[in-house]
Amino acid sequence: MSSLANNYKRKKLSFIKGSGSFLISTNGKKYLDFVQGIAVNSLGHSNNHLNKAIQKQSRKLWHVSNAFKIPEGEKLANRLVKRTFADSVIFQNSGAEATEAAIKVARRYFYSLGKPKKTKIICIKNSFHGRTLAAIHASGSKKMTEGFGPRIPGFDHFNFGDHKKLRNLINKNTAAIMIETVMGEGGIKVIPNWCIKAIRDLCDKKGILLILDEVQCGIGRSGKFFAFEYARVKPDIVPIAKGIGGGFPIGAVLMTKKVAKAMVPGTHGSTFGGNPLAMSVGNAVLDKIDSNLLNNVKKMSKYFILKLNILKKKYPKIIKEIRGIGLLIGIQLWEDQTNFINKLMENQLLTIRAAENVIRILPPLNVKKSEIDTALKIISKVCNDIK
Ligand SMILES: Cc1ncc(COP(=O)(O)O)c(C=O)c1O
Repeated sequence: MSSLANNYKRKKLSFIKGSGSFLISTNGKKYLDFVQGIAVNSLGHSNNHLNKAIQKQSRKLWHVSNAFKIPEGEKLANRLVKRTFADSVIFQNSGAEATEAAIKVARRYFYSLGKPKKTKIICIKNSFHGRTLAAIHASGSKKMTEGFGPRIPGFDHFNFGDHKKLRNLINKNTAAIMIETVMGEGGIKVIPNWCIKAIRDLCDKKGILLILDEVQCGIGRSGKFFAFEYARVKPDIVPIAKGIGGGFPIGAVLMTKKVAKAMVPGTHGSTFGGNPLAMSVGNAVLDKIDSNLLNNVKKMSKYFILKLNILKKKYPKIIKEIRGIGLLIGIQLWEDQTNFINKLMENQLLTIRAAENVIRILPPLNVKKSEIDTALKIISKVCNDIK
Protein backbone atom coordinates (compact mmCIF):
# COMPACT_ATOMS: atom_id res chain seq x y z
CA MET A 1 0.00 0.00 0.00
CA SER A 2 1.25 3.45 -0.90
CA SER A 3 1.10 6.33 1.51
CA LEU A 4 0.63 8.60 -1.47
CA ALA A 5 -2.94 9.66 -2.19
CA ASN A 6 -4.67 7.92 -5.03
CA ASN A 7 -5.10 10.99 -7.27
CA TYR A 8 -2.99 9.58 -10.11
CA LYS A 9 -3.48 6.42 -12.11
CA ARG A 10 0.20 5.54 -12.13
CA LYS A 11 1.83 2.92 -14.32
CA LYS A 12 3.73 0.22 -12.42
CA LEU A 13 7.03 1.49 -13.72
CA SER A 14 9.76 3.52 -12.01
CA PHE A 15 13.07 4.83 -13.15
CA ILE A 16 16.48 5.17 -11.60
CA LYS A 17 18.18 7.37 -14.14
CA GLY A 18 17.83 9.11 -17.44
CA SER A 19 20.03 10.41 -20.19
CA GLY A 20 18.86 12.43 -23.19
CA SER A 21 15.87 10.68 -24.76
CA PHE A 22 16.23 7.54 -22.61
CA LEU A 23 15.21 6.34 -19.17
CA ILE A 24 16.47 3.29 -17.27
CA SER A 25 13.84 1.56 -15.16
CA THR A 26 14.37 0.05 -11.72
CA ASN A 27 14.46 -3.39 -13.34
CA GLY A 28 17.22 -2.34 -15.71
CA LYS A 29 15.20 -1.87 -18.92
CA LYS A 30 15.95 1.02 -21.26
CA TYR A 31 12.96 3.08 -22.44
CA LEU A 32 12.75 5.66 -25.18
CA ASP A 33 11.06 8.49 -23.32
CA PHE A 34 8.78 10.47 -25.60
CA VAL A 35 6.86 11.90 -22.66
CA GLN A 36 9.75 13.82 -21.10
CA GLY A 37 7.75 14.72 -18.02
CA ILE A 38 4.94 15.94 -20.32
CA ALA A 39 6.85 18.47 -22.40
CA VAL A 40 9.03 19.51 -19.47
CA ASN A 41 12.52 18.16 -20.14
CA SER A 42 13.13 20.28 -23.22
CA LEU A 43 16.79 19.22 -23.37
CA GLY A 44 16.21 15.60 -22.35
CA HIS A 45 17.27 13.90 -19.15
CA SER A 46 20.42 14.80 -17.27
CA ASN A 47 21.59 17.44 -19.72
CA ASN A 48 25.23 18.35 -19.12
CA HIS A 49 24.78 22.10 -19.42
CA LEU A 50 21.84 22.07 -16.98
CA ASN A 51 23.68 19.75 -14.58
CA LYS A 52 26.62 22.13 -14.49
CA ALA A 53 24.40 25.19 -14.00
CA ILE A 54 22.43 23.69 -11.11
CA GLN A 55 25.55 22.33 -9.42
CA LYS A 56 27.33 25.67 -9.70
CA GLN A 57 24.38 27.63 -8.34
CA SER A 58 23.62 25.10 -5.60
CA ARG A 59 27.07 25.67 -4.13
CA LYS A 60 26.51 29.45 -4.10
CA LEU A 61 22.91 30.20 -3.15
CA TRP A 62 19.60 28.34 -3.39
CA HIS A 63 16.95 30.64 -2.13
CA VAL A 64 16.38 34.18 -0.99
CA SER A 65 13.11 36.03 -0.61
CA ASN A 66 11.62 38.18 -3.31
CA ALA A 67 11.95 40.94 -0.74
CA PHE A 68 15.46 41.27 -2.23
CA LYS A 69 16.77 41.77 -5.76
CA ILE A 70 17.62 38.45 -7.38
CA PRO A 71 20.19 39.00 -10.15
CA GLU A 72 19.65 35.56 -11.73
CA GLY A 73 15.93 36.40 -12.07
CA GLU A 74 16.68 39.87 -13.45
CA LYS A 75 18.88 38.20 -16.05
CA LEU A 76 16.32 35.59 -17.08
CA ALA A 77 13.54 38.19 -17.27
CA ASN A 78 15.77 40.47 -19.40
CA ARG A 79 16.53 37.63 -21.77
CA LEU A 80 12.87 36.61 -22.08
CA VAL A 81 11.91 40.22 -22.77
CA LYS A 82 14.65 40.57 -25.40
CA ARG A 83 13.49 37.44 -27.21
CA THR A 84 9.75 37.90 -27.10
CA PHE A 85 6.79 40.27 -27.30
CA ALA A 86 6.99 40.85 -23.55
CA ASP A 87 8.18 43.87 -21.59
CA SER A 88 7.84 42.38 -18.14
CA VAL A 89 7.86 39.04 -16.30
CA ILE A 90 6.64 37.61 -12.98
CA PHE A 91 8.14 34.25 -12.01
CA GLN A 92 6.12 31.41 -10.55
CA ASN A 93 6.65 27.70 -9.90
CA SER A 94 4.16 25.93 -12.18
CA GLY A 95 1.85 26.27 -15.13
CA ALA A 96 -1.32 26.59 -13.10
CA GLU A 97 0.19 29.41 -11.07
CA ALA A 98 1.27 31.08 -14.30
CA THR A 99 -2.24 30.92 -15.80
CA GLU A 100 -3.74 32.16 -12.53
CA ALA A 101 -1.29 35.05 -12.56
CA ALA A 102 -2.30 35.76 -16.17
CA ILE A 103 -5.94 36.00 -15.09
CA LYS A 104 -5.00 38.28 -12.20
CA VAL A 105 -2.96 40.56 -14.49
CA ALA A 106 -5.89 40.89 -16.93
CA ARG A 107 -8.34 41.75 -14.16
CA ARG A 108 -5.99 44.10 -12.39
CA TYR A 109 -5.34 45.94 -15.64
CA PHE A 110 -8.99 46.87 -16.04
CA TYR A 111 -9.28 47.58 -12.30
CA SER A 112 -6.41 50.04 -12.66
CA LEU A 113 -8.33 51.73 -15.47
CA GLY A 114 -11.31 52.20 -13.15
CA LYS A 115 -13.26 49.31 -14.67
CA PRO A 116 -13.45 46.85 -11.75
CA LYS A 117 -16.41 44.97 -13.25
CA LYS A 118 -14.48 44.00 -16.35
CA THR A 119 -13.38 40.64 -14.98
CA LYS A 120 -14.75 37.89 -17.24
CA ILE A 121 -12.36 35.62 -19.05
CA ILE A 122 -13.57 33.71 -22.12
CA CYS A 123 -12.05 30.25 -22.56
CA ILE A 124 -12.50 27.21 -24.78
CA LYS A 125 -14.67 24.52 -23.23
CA ASN A 126 -12.59 21.52 -22.16
CA SER A 127 -9.33 23.36 -22.53
CA PHE A 128 -6.59 22.93 -19.93
CA HIS A 129 -5.06 25.66 -17.85
CA GLY A 130 -4.06 23.74 -14.72
CA ARG A 131 -5.56 22.27 -11.57
CA THR A 132 -6.00 25.16 -9.14
CA LEU A 133 -9.56 26.19 -8.36
CA ALA A 134 -9.62 29.11 -10.79
CA ALA A 135 -7.76 27.15 -13.49
CA ILE A 136 -10.17 24.20 -13.42
CA HIS A 137 -13.10 26.57 -13.77
CA ALA A 138 -11.28 28.37 -16.58
CA SER A 139 -10.93 25.02 -18.31
CA GLY A 140 -14.69 24.51 -18.11
CA SER A 141 -14.37 20.76 -17.93
CA LYS A 142 -17.06 18.87 -16.03
CA LYS A 143 -14.63 16.11 -15.17
CA MET A 144 -12.12 18.48 -13.61
CA THR A 145 -14.59 20.66 -11.70
CA GLU A 146 -16.91 17.93 -10.41
CA GLY A 147 -16.93 17.84 -6.62
CA PHE A 148 -14.97 21.04 -6.27
CA GLY A 149 -17.83 23.48 -5.97
CA PRO A 150 -18.92 26.15 -5.54
CA ARG A 151 -18.27 27.12 -9.12
CA ILE A 152 -15.74 29.93 -9.41
CA PRO A 153 -17.49 32.65 -11.40
CA GLY A 154 -15.86 34.83 -14.00
CA PHE A 155 -15.33 32.37 -16.85
CA ASP A 156 -17.39 31.99 -20.02
CA HIS A 157 -16.93 29.15 -22.48
CA PHE A 158 -17.35 28.43 -26.14
CA ASN A 159 -16.77 25.18 -27.98
CA PHE A 160 -13.60 24.85 -30.05
CA GLY A 161 -14.37 26.36 -33.47
CA ASP A 162 -17.67 28.02 -32.47
CA HIS A 163 -16.70 31.55 -33.49
CA LYS A 164 -20.23 32.85 -33.42
CA LYS A 165 -20.60 31.87 -29.76
CA LEU A 166 -17.23 33.44 -29.00
CA ARG A 167 -18.33 36.76 -30.51
CA ASN A 168 -21.67 36.61 -28.70
CA LEU A 169 -20.03 35.97 -25.33
CA ILE A 170 -18.12 39.25 -25.37
CA ASN A 171 -19.87 41.92 -23.32
CA LYS A 172 -18.99 44.99 -21.27
CA ASN A 173 -17.68 42.82 -18.42
CA THR A 174 -15.29 40.79 -20.56
CA ALA A 175 -11.62 41.34 -19.69
CA ALA A 176 -9.87 38.79 -21.89
CA ILE A 177 -9.92 35.76 -24.11
CA MET A 178 -7.60 33.04 -22.83
CA ILE A 179 -6.73 30.13 -25.09
CA GLU A 180 -3.94 27.58 -25.48
CA THR A 181 -2.19 28.28 -28.79
CA VAL A 182 -2.06 24.50 -29.16
CA MET A 183 -4.51 22.54 -27.03
CA GLY A 184 -2.27 19.91 -25.46
CA GLU A 185 -4.36 17.91 -22.99
CA GLY A 186 -7.36 18.59 -25.22
CA GLY A 187 -5.92 16.34 -27.95
CA ILE A 188 -3.11 18.29 -29.67
CA LYS A 189 -5.44 20.67 -31.45
CA VAL A 190 -3.45 23.34 -33.22
CA ILE A 191 -5.43 26.57 -33.47
CA PRO A 192 -4.94 27.73 -37.09
CA ASN A 193 -2.93 30.90 -37.66
CA TRP A 194 -5.87 32.70 -39.33
CA CYS A 195 -7.96 31.95 -36.25
CA ILE A 196 -5.37 33.27 -33.77
CA LYS A 197 -5.11 36.40 -35.95
CA ALA A 198 -8.90 36.80 -36.05
CA ILE A 199 -9.08 36.44 -32.26
CA ARG A 200 -6.36 39.08 -31.86
CA ASP A 201 -8.35 41.43 -34.14
CA LEU A 202 -11.52 40.71 -32.21
CA CYS A 203 -9.77 41.53 -28.92
CA ASP A 204 -8.49 44.80 -30.38
CA LYS A 205 -11.90 45.72 -31.74
CA LYS A 206 -13.60 45.02 -28.42
CA GLY A 207 -10.86 46.51 -26.25
CA ILE A 208 -10.13 43.29 -24.40
CA LEU A 209 -6.90 41.40 -23.74
CA LEU A 210 -5.52 38.29 -25.40
CA ILE A 211 -3.94 35.67 -23.14
CA LEU A 212 -2.19 32.85 -24.99
CA ASP A 213 -1.37 29.92 -22.73
CA GLU A 214 1.99 28.56 -23.91
CA VAL A 215 2.67 26.41 -20.86
CA GLN A 216 2.85 23.26 -22.99
CA CYS A 217 3.58 24.49 -26.51
CA GLY A 218 6.01 27.30 -25.67
CA ILE A 219 9.81 27.56 -25.30
CA GLY A 220 10.70 26.00 -28.63
CA ARG A 221 8.41 22.99 -28.65
CA SER A 222 6.55 24.26 -31.73
CA GLY A 223 9.76 24.97 -33.66
CA LYS A 224 9.51 28.67 -32.81
CA PHE A 225 10.13 30.13 -29.37
CA PHE A 226 6.38 30.63 -29.04
CA ALA A 227 3.80 28.80 -31.14
CA PHE A 228 1.85 32.03 -31.73
CA GLU A 229 4.80 33.44 -33.66
CA TYR A 230 3.56 31.39 -36.63
CA ALA A 231 0.43 33.58 -36.63
CA ARG A 232 2.48 36.79 -36.38
CA VAL A 233 0.41 38.19 -33.55
CA LYS A 234 1.37 39.96 -30.37
CA PRO A 235 -0.57 38.76 -27.31
CA ASP A 236 -0.93 40.84 -24.16
CA ILE A 237 -0.22 38.14 -21.59
CA VAL A 238 1.45 34.73 -21.92
CA PRO A 239 1.79 32.17 -19.14
CA ILE A 240 4.71 29.75 -19.53
CA ALA A 241 6.14 26.88 -17.47
CA LYS A 242 7.20 23.30 -18.34
CA GLY A 243 9.97 23.73 -20.96
CA ILE A 244 11.57 26.83 -19.45
CA GLY A 245 12.70 24.81 -16.42
CA GLY A 246 13.93 21.78 -18.36
CA GLY A 247 12.78 19.67 -15.39
CA PHE A 248 13.10 22.24 -12.61
CA PRO A 249 9.72 23.69 -11.52
CA ILE A 250 9.49 27.17 -13.05
CA GLY A 251 6.47 29.10 -14.23
CA ALA A 252 6.15 32.69 -15.38
CA VAL A 253 3.73 35.18 -16.74
CA LEU A 254 5.02 37.38 -19.56
CA MET A 255 3.23 40.61 -20.39
CA THR A 256 3.37 43.89 -22.24
CA LYS A 257 4.15 47.08 -20.34
CA LYS A 258 0.60 48.29 -20.88
CA VAL A 259 -0.82 45.59 -18.59
CA ALA A 260 2.28 45.18 -16.40
CA LYS A 261 1.78 48.73 -15.12
CA ALA A 262 -1.16 47.50 -13.05
CA MET A 263 0.98 44.98 -11.13
CA VAL A 264 2.20 47.34 -8.43
CA PRO A 265 3.88 46.14 -5.20
CA GLY A 266 1.61 43.85 -3.22
CA THR A 267 -0.61 42.76 -6.11
CA HIS A 268 1.08 39.38 -6.60
CA GLY A 269 3.82 37.30 -5.04
CA SER A 270 5.30 33.90 -4.41
CA THR A 271 7.70 32.59 -1.78
CA PHE A 272 9.61 30.34 -4.14
CA GLY A 273 8.87 31.87 -7.54
CA GLY A 274 12.06 33.11 -9.19
CA ASN A 275 14.57 31.91 -6.60
CA PRO A 276 18.26 31.85 -7.58
CA LEU A 277 18.40 28.07 -8.09
CA ALA A 278 15.36 28.03 -10.39
CA MET A 279 16.53 31.11 -12.28
CA SER A 280 19.99 29.65 -12.91
CA VAL A 281 18.39 26.58 -14.46
CA GLY A 282 16.03 28.75 -16.52
CA ASN A 283 18.98 30.76 -17.82
CA ALA A 284 20.83 27.56 -18.71
CA VAL A 285 17.78 26.24 -20.60
CA LEU A 286 17.54 29.52 -22.49
CA ASP A 287 21.23 29.26 -23.48
CA LYS A 288 20.29 26.20 -25.51
CA ILE A 289 17.02 27.34 -27.13
CA ASP A 290 18.86 28.73 -30.14
CA SER A 291 18.25 28.60 -33.89
CA ASN A 292 20.05 25.24 -34.16
CA LEU A 293 17.70 23.64 -31.65
CA LEU A 294 14.61 25.24 -33.22
CA ASN A 295 15.74 23.99 -36.63
CA ASN A 296 16.14 20.51 -35.19
CA VAL A 297 12.57 20.69 -33.85
CA LYS A 298 11.23 21.71 -37.27
CA LYS A 299 13.28 19.12 -39.15
CA MET A 300 12.52 16.24 -36.80
CA SER A 301 8.86 17.22 -36.68
CA LYS A 302 8.54 17.20 -40.46
CA TYR A 303 10.20 13.80 -40.68
CA PHE A 304 8.21 12.28 -37.81
CA ILE A 305 4.85 13.57 -39.06
CA LEU A 306 5.57 12.46 -42.62
CA LYS A 307 6.46 8.93 -41.47
CA LEU A 308 3.46 8.78 -39.12
CA ASN A 309 1.18 9.73 -42.01
CA ILE A 310 2.63 6.83 -44.01
CA LEU A 311 1.76 4.56 -41.08
CA LYS A 312 -1.72 6.07 -41.01
CA LYS A 313 -2.16 5.12 -44.67
CA LYS A 314 -0.94 1.60 -43.93
CA TYR A 315 -3.23 1.19 -40.91
CA PRO A 316 -6.29 3.31 -41.71
CA LYS A 317 -8.49 1.24 -39.41
CA ILE A 318 -6.27 1.97 -36.40
CA ILE A 319 -4.99 5.52 -36.97
CA LYS A 320 -7.56 8.23 -37.61
CA GLU A 321 -5.37 11.32 -37.78
CA ILE A 322 -1.87 12.61 -37.19
CA ARG A 323 -1.91 16.03 -35.56
CA GLY A 324 0.51 18.50 -34.15
CA ILE A 325 3.18 21.08 -34.56
CA GLY A 326 6.89 20.84 -33.84
CA LEU A 327 7.55 18.12 -31.30
CA LEU A 328 4.05 18.22 -29.87
CA ILE A 329 2.58 15.40 -31.92
CA GLY A 330 -0.64 13.45 -31.59
CA ILE A 331 -1.67 10.12 -33.09
CA GLN A 332 -5.43 10.01 -32.96
CA LEU A 333 -6.84 6.50 -32.93
CA TRP A 334 -10.33 5.43 -33.90
CA GLU A 335 -10.69 3.74 -30.52
CA ASP A 336 -9.54 4.32 -26.95
CA GLN A 337 -5.77 4.63 -26.90
CA THR A 338 -5.03 2.95 -23.52
CA ASN A 339 -4.20 -0.46 -24.94
CA PHE A 340 -2.00 1.05 -27.66
CA ILE A 341 -0.05 3.16 -25.14
CA ASN A 342 0.47 0.10 -22.92
CA LYS A 343 1.71 -1.91 -25.88
CA LEU A 344 4.14 0.88 -26.82
CA MET A 345 5.36 0.77 -23.23
CA GLU A 346 5.81 -3.02 -23.38
CA ASN A 347 8.01 -2.30 -26.41
CA GLN A 348 9.96 0.28 -24.41
CA LEU A 349 8.51 3.45 -25.93
CA LEU A 350 6.88 5.87 -23.48
CA THR A 351 4.05 8.11 -24.68
CA ILE A 352 1.10 9.70 -22.93
CA ARG A 353 -2.59 10.14 -23.57
CA ALA A 354 -4.54 13.28 -24.46
CA ALA A 355 -8.27 13.77 -25.05
CA GLU A 356 -10.07 12.42 -28.15
CA ASN A 357 -8.21 9.05 -28.23
CA VAL A 358 -4.94 10.84 -28.90
CA ILE A 359 -1.51 9.40 -28.10
CA ARG A 360 0.70 12.34 -27.26
CA ILE A 361 4.32 12.25 -28.35
CA LEU A 362 6.72 14.71 -26.75
CA PRO A 363 10.37 13.97 -27.47
CA PRO A 364 13.08 16.28 -26.13
CA LEU A 365 13.77 19.18 -28.49
CA ASN A 366 17.25 17.80 -29.22
CA VAL A 367 15.91 14.39 -30.27
CA LYS A 368 17.93 12.50 -32.89
CA LYS A 369 16.59 11.08 -36.15
CA SER A 370 17.76 7.60 -35.12
CA GLU A 371 15.61 7.87 -31.97
CA ILE A 372 12.58 8.86 -34.05
CA ASP A 373 13.28 5.86 -36.30
CA THR A 374 13.30 3.60 -33.23
CA ALA A 375 9.96 5.06 -32.13
CA LEU A 376 8.50 4.61 -35.62
CA LYS A 377 9.56 0.96 -35.66
CA ILE A 378 7.83 0.37 -32.32
CA ILE A 379 4.66 2.21 -33.36
CA SER A 380 4.56 0.22 -36.60
CA LYS A 381 5.09 -3.06 -34.71
CA VAL A 382 2.22 -2.28 -32.33
CA CYS A 383 -0.07 -1.38 -35.27
CA ASN A 384 0.85 -4.69 -36.87
CA ASP A 385 0.35 -6.63 -33.61
CA ILE A 386 -3.15 -5.30 -33.00
CA LYS A 387 -4.46 -5.07 -36.58
C1 LIG B 1 -1.63 24.58 -21.51
C2 LIG B 1 -1.40 24.29 -20.06
N1 LIG B 1 -1.64 25.24 -19.14
C3 LIG B 1 -1.44 25.02 -17.84
C4 LIG B 1 -0.98 23.80 -17.38
C5 LIG B 1 -0.76 23.57 -15.92
O1 LIG B 1 0.58 23.39 -15.63
P1 LIG B 1 1.04 22.74 -14.25
O2 LIG B 1 0.68 21.30 -14.30
O3 LIG B 1 2.52 22.99 -14.21
O4 LIG B 1 0.33 23.45 -13.17
C6 LIG B 1 -0.72 22.78 -18.29
C7 LIG B 1 -0.26 21.46 -17.84
O5 LIG B 1 -0.29 20.47 -18.52
C8 LIG B 1 -0.95 23.03 -19.67
O6 LIG B 1 -0.72 22.09 -20.58
